[in-house]
Amino acid sequence: MNYVIKKRCIQKITTFYRNVSKKYKHTYSEELMHQNADEAIDFMPIPFLSLKDVTALHGAEINEAVSRVVNSGWYLQGQENQRFERNYAAFIGTEHCIGCANGLDALIWIFRAYIELGVMAPGDEVIVPANTYIATLLAITENGLVPVPVEPKADTLEIDEDAIEARITPRTRAIAIVHLYGRNAYTPKIGELCRKYGLKLVEDNAQAHGCRAEDGRRTGSIGDAAGHSFYPGKNLGALGDGGAVTTNDPEVAAAVRALANYGSQKKYVFKFTGRNSRLDEIQAAVLDVKLKYLEEDNAHRQAVAAYYYEHISNPLVTLPARLPDAQNVYHLFPVLVGGGKRDALHDYLDAHGIGTVIHYPIPPHHQECYAREAWNTPQLNLPITERIAAEELSLPIGPSITLEEAAEVVNAINGFHA
Ligand SMILES: Cc1ncc(COP(=O)(O)O)c(C=O)c1O
Repeated sequence: MNYVIKKRCIQKITTFYRNVSKKYKHTYSEELMHQNADEAIDFMPIPFLSLKDVTALHGAEINEAVSRVVNSGWYLQGQENQRFERNYAAFIGTEHCIGCANGLDALIWIFRAYIELGVMAPGDEVIVPANTYIATLLAITENGLVPVPVEPKADTLEIDEDAIEARITPRTRAIAIVHLYGRNAYTPKIGELCRKYGLKLVEDNAQAHGCRAEDGRRTGSIGDAAGHSFYPGKNLGALGDGGAVTTNDPEVAAAVRALANYGSQKKYVFKFTGRNSRLDEIQAAVLDVKLKYLEEDNAHRQAVAAYYYEHISNPLVTLPARLPDAQNVYHLFPVLVGGGKRDALHDYLDAHGIGTVIHYPIPPHHQECYAREAWNTPQLNLPITERIAAEELSLPIGPSITLEEAAEVVNAINGFHA
């Protein structure tokens, strides 16, 4: 069935479904939604992201890859991991890639490796963007390190390079940059600060597979080590959890590989107290198929984003400053909605059958889990982060959304009046 016709059929069914019971819709949504599972909102005529449609784009090859592994009888630490790690390292532009269980673990293992190698110690500080997804901070605090949240810039939503230096202390050991929403966050000034103060540069590349910095290097190859998430909704998404660390540092690579495998470098010999945090063979095989199409998929995201940039004209809606396409792979398309109207626009789009998601409604420093942390002082002054949390709304974007659908999103947004 042609894609657009299929969409229209789904639209009819979902409209009926929505009319039958709005209450049921909420129950359905709440039960299905993992706190990070944006794509569960798949019953809309224009869903925020339909993972079913994304998988269907390369469905035959993915099914073939899964069957190959199922029939091979080899499910962990085999050829599929080796092939994917080799191909992903080549794609990112690093010597090493180590598959692991998820993106949070990838980041945890990087900081833990630096502790095991004597580069960092519990109590040391790590600069981090205040508006990131909480996983970046969890990886820091999990290792007994201290996050130092720094404001993003209001127009780029990425860490403000000019706000970093004032937060560097004798305990600072690293700057963790996050290529949030799929945008390159690296600037030469950040590199200079790392050299000046002898800091490690850790990249959180969970949201930016395929993105390049201004100098042409891929994000994930710029810093000393990078964590990647292959959570299903990511640009390179598995059919379950998955993650990887990329680095050019052989010591970090060896430590991460051991940590993610019980701390073992040799069977039944344990150098570290690690965990079982491996990427399984089925996910590696699926990721290797999807990697071949990643640039094509990203180009499609860029076309949808270009359409939004050129056609959204509602004065209540501010689009982030536009970067050249190479520097933005549009994992998400965030807009800021002024005048206290963000939630109203969300509800309005919802009523028009358009799925949107807030990234993120509560910044990490306001989360209960960090309420009693010494670093989380009332003096933390993060007005831009607070504003983003109050105004951000992410529009549908992904490899399976059509430009016709993007046009419907634009029409609905431009038709929204406060
Ligand atoms: C910026 C960022 N960092 C880290 C993660 C953690 O990745 P995962 O969900 O694979 O653990 C995510 C994903 O949700 C993310 O968006």
